Amino acid sequence: MKQYYILVVLLCFLSCSKNEQNEKKAVSENEEKYEHIINKLLSKMTLEEKIGQTNLRGTSSRAKTLSEELKQQVRAGKVGALLNVMKIEFVDELQKIAVEESPNKIPLIFARDVIHGFKTMFPIPLGIAASWDEDIARTSSRIAAIESSSVGIRWTFAPMLDIARDSRWGRIAESPGEDPYLASVLGKAYVEGFQGDSLNDPTSIAACAKHYIGYGAAIGGRDYNTTIISKPLMHNVYLPPFESALNAEVATVMTAFNEINGVPATGNKFLLKDVLRGKLKFDGFVVSDWESTIEMIAHGYAKNEKHVAELAANAGLDMEMTSKAYENNLKALIEEGKVSEDQLNEFVKNILRIKLRLGLFEMPYRDTKNEATFYKKSHLEKAKNAAVKSTVMLKNTGVLPLAKTSKVALIGPMVDAPLDQMGTWTFDGEKEHTLTPLDAFKTANINYNFIPGLTHSRATSKKEFKKAVAIATASDVIVCVVGEEAILSGEAHSRASIDLPGAQEDLIKELAKTDKPIVLVIMAGRPITITNIIDDVDSVLMTWHPGTMGGEALQEILFGLSEPQGRLPVSWPKTAGQLPYYYNHKNTGRPANKDDFVAIYDIPVGAWQSSLGNDSHYLDAGYTPHFPFGYGLGYTNFRYDKVEVSKDTITFNEDIIIKATITNTGIRAGKEVVQLYVQDVVGSITRPVRELKGFQHINFEPGETKEVRFKLSSKSLEFTNHKSVKAAEEGDFNIWVGPHSASGLKHSFYLKN
Ligand code: NOJ
Repeated sequence: MKQYYILVVLLCFLSCSKNEQNEKKAVSENEEKYEHIINKLLSKMTLEEKIGQTNLRGTSSRAKTLSEELKQQVRAGKVGALLNVMKIEFVDELQKIAVEESPNKIPLIFARDVIHGFKTMFPIPLGIAASWDEDIARTSSRIAAIESSSVGIRWTFAPMLDIARDSRWGRIAESPGEDPYLASVLGKAYVEGFQGDSLNDPTSIAACAKHYIGYGAAIGGRDYNTTIISKPLMHNVYLPPFESALNAEVATVMTAFNEINGVPATGNKFLLKDVLRGKLKFDGFVVSDWESTIEMIAHGYAKNEKHVAELAANAGLDMEMTSKAYENNLKALIEEGKVSEDQLNEFVKNILRIKLRLGLFEMPYRDTKNEATFYKKSHLEKAKNAAVKSTVMLKNTGVLPLAKTSKVALIGPMVDAPLDQMGTWTFDGEKEHTLTPLDAFKTANINYNFIPGLTHSRATSKKEFKKAVAIATASDVIVCVVGEEAILSGEAHSRASIDLPGAQEDLIKELAKTDKPIVLVIMAGRPITITNIIDDVDSVLMTWHPGTMGGEALQEILFGLSEPQGRLPVSWPKTAGQLPYYYNHKNTGRPANKDDFVAIYDIPVGAWQSSLGNDSHYLDAGYTPHFPFGYGLGYTNFRYDKVEVSKDTITFNEDIIIKATITNTGIRAGKEVVQLYVQDVVGSITRPVRELKGFQHINFEPGETKEVRFKLSSKSLEFTNHKSVKAAEEGDFNIWVGPHSASGLKHSFYLKN
């Protein structure tokens, strides 16, 4: 019998690997075929047509008519892709012109920013990152691809993989947060969701890893700002999420607006040629960001439009978004010998390769069978699940979950803000389909009274405060939904202060005077500093901008039908003055510690000035964030009992097994996100105090104890040093298994050469 089973398992293994081999063979045969088609086409294309392929023409999604000029350009083969054509008839007509009337009948790609949903909006990407759940990322992008491909879109400018360490930066809302490991896990999943099992499936859309690179390192969190990134920092922090997307075969990459160490990303030969093409072997195409080519003039890197084209082309930029530096100048530059025709041929090959992989040559038109129903029940369910899983509970004195019979005063400008609840980059989501907390309270038959208190998040008129206080006084509990309108985060919407805007803090202070318990719900595109009000409230839930189903998700969490399951993907500051703040920082020569710390008001007046016992902190904000990276509460509690390692010493190419024993000490079932952090104690360059190396979602029954195992390979201890050598180094390593980046049970091991 035993032998029989072994035989079955063996046969199964052999047939699986046979299938895999067959698939690989088919892919490589296709690729060979594609290269043949590309070369054949190239041999027939004029210089103008080749330049046409590098042209991503922007249009307005609100355009009522199709311009004759655009049609003529497509007919002449002078456009490679189009952005924001949102009328199905226009998509069909333009594609028909391209494949029937243009000289070489090359299809167009239609692009759109489908960032966290098309019609069914999921939480903003920072919210999805808070779920720490690759399935949520994959599902959200799959549904976005199904919905958007039905109107002809086959290319999205997502995922954004910019590591963000500064919550003032408006685009933190679109980011995967501050950690390269978490961002890499999510980046891969997003690409898999958008691109599906195969790019040529009509419901697949080409993904775009953006913004290459370092955009999130904008100094001071001010959008578009200069960045200074050392090579080790680039390789150890900013590149890993892109490498992960590339491993998942992301079709395209977008250059960033910023400069890096003096060279704009769009004209950065080292990053585009040496790193992206050379080291990382990328074979898709690279598109500039919106006019980021000609912005090289404002950067002070290019003299004029022609110089822009020369710099970008020689750096290896394949396609130009909206601006016309290539269209107007490439031909002359090639004729003058300043850019080689071979270089242009490379661009065209990269672009055609993706068009072929998308199956556009065989099926250029929308698949009319793919009539995706927008806001399908199953899509809405998934969006609700994502909103639940991304909600982070930051405080709970026990007021949550609420009893079903509670009489609730529902107050705040975000209680019924259907547009704002969708967040940034929601061109196609419709507020009429958004379920706000108010809608959800109505549907669920909750005993509530509602007064917004403030008309919107920036409002300062306190006219309605009295009414709000009146309903609060007559209630058992106050649920106060505050935050930021969607327009306060996203591109070019950075803030110097990240407190609640308008008179929202004043509203909370007024409500606190009623002595009723307050559940504070924050809907925002970034962490919001709540140091001034945290003591006035009993519970805090961060929902981010939760998307179409945010209201229902919140109602379920408030009443305990669902558990808040999110964990912070970024450190939550006490004050914007602490920024940039990130958990995986380096130690200083004088690391801060609680024994030496003296707060500003504890320093005696006239104190003697001395450097003795000084360390690295702020007198008025200390040295810790308000809530650390990885933090988030649920409706039960966990105890970490012990952590063990399989060996005290491992050699290179060996794995170590780390085991932790964890118990649910509460009376409710619950989920814990168990996190593994590592510190390389001494390195050839200084190493972060901790780095996330693994996490697992574990469900526990009440009182249940489980052993959670992590396998850590010596490969995952590698880092790039100042000599650009990537290797793990012999020495001591500390590990922590715990609920967030500022706690955990500690152990250590030695890595031996
Ligand atoms: C500018 C943004 O930076 C980028 O992320 C976006 O994809 C393009 N505009 C196109 O809308």
